[in-house]
Amino acid sequence: MNDKFIKKYSSMTGSSNTAYIEKLLPLIEEIKELKKKHNAVVLSHYYMTPELQIEEKEGGIADFVGDSLGLSVAATKTDADYIVFCGVKFMAETAFILNPKKTVLLPDDDAGCSLAESITGDDVIKLKSKYPGIPVIAYINTYAETKAECDVCCTSRNAIKIAKSFESKELIFIPDQFMGQNLAVKFATETDKKLILWSGTCEVHEQFRTNIESLTLANPGAELLLHWEVPQETVESTLKNNKGIVGSTSDILNYVENSKSREFILGSECDLGATLKGMYPDRQFITPCIMCRHMKLITLQKTLDALRSINTETEIKYKIKVDEPVLSKAYIPIKRMLDLS
Ligand code: 13P
Ligand code: SF4
Repeated sequence: MNDKFIKKYSSMTGSSNTAYIEKLLPLIEEIKELKKKHNAVVLSHYYMTPELQIEEKEGGIADFVGDSLGLSVAATKTDADYIVFCGVKFMAETAFILNPKKTVLLPDDDAGCSLAESITGDDVIKLKSKYPGIPVIAYINTYAETKAECDVCCTSRNAIKIAKSFESKELIFIPDQFMGQNLAVKFATETDKKLILWSGTCEVHEQFRTNIESLTLANPGAELLLHWEVPQETVESTLKNNKGIVGSTSDILNYVENSKSREFILGSECDLGATLKGMYPDRQFITPCIMCRHMKLITLQKTLDALRSINTETEIKYKIKVDEPVLSKAYIPIKRMLDLS
């Protein structure tokens, strides 16, 4: 019996559904064996379901759990032959671009992202000809062929630092308009920078609107945890009357760590609430619970299937591929981001 896993899973979910947990245990054991056999690591994003974001030291399958910047950095540090990516496609692509000699497996090839799908490399080329000489910052939530046309990447965690590293007063930020609007408010108080924005949105975070306002009215003492991708009008209307932050996933984790409050309202992917609950079992995380359908395509069973496929003819189904010259071109803005972080 994997007591460590059961304890962690129960603290993250508040569930004592032992029948369900017991069904997961044989999958976990086989994943661990196959990881050893094939010298593979599992990198897992905070938006995965709880069973996928429990580290091996706590009885789970993950070698590293983190936000998109943490996962990119972890991908540069591993000496494994295989990286199994429990996240979405743009994240797995980034890991591959940083490690083209390794094999990166994504357990479901359909795990996309509304932001990444909102813009192409050709769109960036057109933007650059409309605004010549203005640097283009690509949020990491873009595909390789889009990154390939950009000057630098950023994640939610380092966007401000990356933007400030440019002397230019104008910057093009793609593709999230809401994150761009939230960053612009911050820049207006700290810098003289102006952002030119694209029209993409995160289909999860754009849904935090009156649902968050209602939760603040129902829970007057709770502090707000809002991701950069939440619409600016929600950020403005709720943070005006309530304590809290708008920021990155890691800002949210740090805020909770340093806050004395016992109650928080989360405006981010629902399973980040489980991550937080696992870290701070004595605190309350209230959320409208909006899930990313792309992230939820990744399951424990599919992760096992991806590992079972290694050295078989089905491995190709899971394998991330980025062809030249896109690979080398997309490496430049990602590497520049890592050097600036
Ligand atoms: P982070 O950079 O905060 O991990 O965000 C990833 C993401 O997909 C946000 O919706
Ligand atoms: Fe994309 Fe939003 Fe899902 Fe993140 S939560 S992967 S930004 S759709």
